[in-house]
Amino acid sequence: MTILVTGGAGFIGTNFIINWTSKNKEKVINIDSLNYASNKENLSYLSSRKYILIKGTINNKKLLNFILRKYKIRKIINFAAETHVDRSIKDASKFVSTNINGTYCLLEELKIYFQSLNNSSKKKFKFLHVSTDEVYGSLGKFSKPSNENSQMQPNNPYSATKAASDHLVRAFNKTYGLPTVITNCSNNYGPFQFPEKLIPLIINNAINEKKLPIYGNGKQIRDWLYVEDHCNALILILKKGKIGETFNIGGNNEVTNLELVRSICSILDSKIPRKRGKYSQLIKFVKDRPGHDFRYGLDTFKVKSQLKWSPLENMKTGLIKTVEWYLENPKWLKDNISQEYKKWINTQYR
Ligand code: NAD
Ligand code: TYD
Repeated sequence: MTILVTGGAGFIGTNFIINWTSKNKEKVINIDSLNYASNKENLSYLSSRKYILIKGTINNKKLLNFILRKYKIRKIINFAAETHVDRSIKDASKFVSTNINGTYCLLEELKIYFQSLNNSSKKKFKFLHVSTDEVYGSLGKFSKPSNENSQMQPNNPYSATKAASDHLVRAFNKTYGLPTVITNCSNNYGPFQFPEKLIPLIINNAINEKKLPIYGNGKQIRDWLYVEDHCNALILILKKGKIGETFNIGGNNEVTNLELVRSICSILDSKIPRKRGKYSQLIKFVKDRPGHDFRYGLDTFKVKSQLKWSPLENMKTGLIKTVEWYLENPKWLKDNISQEYKKWINTQYR
């Protein structure tokens, strides 16, 4: 049995494949369009007996059809997406194309393939769609965290396209009986995250003595989930999660952006002190993101009670591991700082 991963050359997909191949015998096929946020070198150490990378898009139905049949795929996990909120605000077209149309193409091919399987293969079949807590929209400071039945109220183009994809997945389960599961997770952090997202951006800027940009007043709250904890939950859900269900996966770590950036600064102060002053002196409040959601927070009772999953890292232990990883991998950071990245940073933080 072979597992198909989409978007496995990105941040969470890479961590998932490392985790999966260390614990399972099944081969992994990774279809990834290799966009600006991906890095195919992350997994180049894996042997072809365990891992095959196919450069291609989930919008290519013919290619999907070929892969599903050639490798007799029984489990699929969909990470492929355009993922940066700020980029979606500048131009949402790729988000609509990949997150909505791409997910639709994948579902359509999975439906045809699933219907062609015999009963025993059908029983083993599962499609796990990875989504975000952002689909629930913004919470007030004292509101209850979102649970799996909370209304979807996406507020930015990225979260709107992810919500649309979640609806499509649900519809293919209800209408065609496709065995699907959806997960909505909070903000991930850890090794291999592209340095346009808050945590690696702050680490990279700090070690290069650049300003640390905080949108608005920095009081917005996010829940942070260490990527390895997330991947452990995904593996459990892929194996045991009930078909047709949705599971929230969160880290129990709600902090404001300002608190988070200050914590990164104090870890850096202790590991690689600046010649003069503290890293927090580099903090700069910049123009806020339009439609900036105030707070995301997840109720994770369901995954904890049904699957006995809990995150192993707290914000402190996870952040220390993450900072250490970036300090130990300067080449990875250097290789990911392309011309395109520089152009993005220059226009975004002008
Ligand atoms: P990422 O941007 O690091 O990686 C996405 C990967 O998808 C890249 O390798 C990219 O090349 C690939 N991709 C993009 N378009 C594609 C297409 N059309 N066909 C095939 N591959 C394509 O993102 P990530 O942080 O690893 O996120 C993975 C998934 O998790 C996404 O679906 C995202 O919405 C979801 N998610 C992420 C977070 C987070 O904090 N990172 C939080 C909640 C949900
Ligand atoms: P981000 O990592 O882009 O994830 P998301 O928007 O999916 O939550 O941002 C996390 C938070 O950090 C969000 O509230 C926006 C804020 N932020 C900044 O304050 N400065 C920055 O430079 C970036 C990229 C994000």
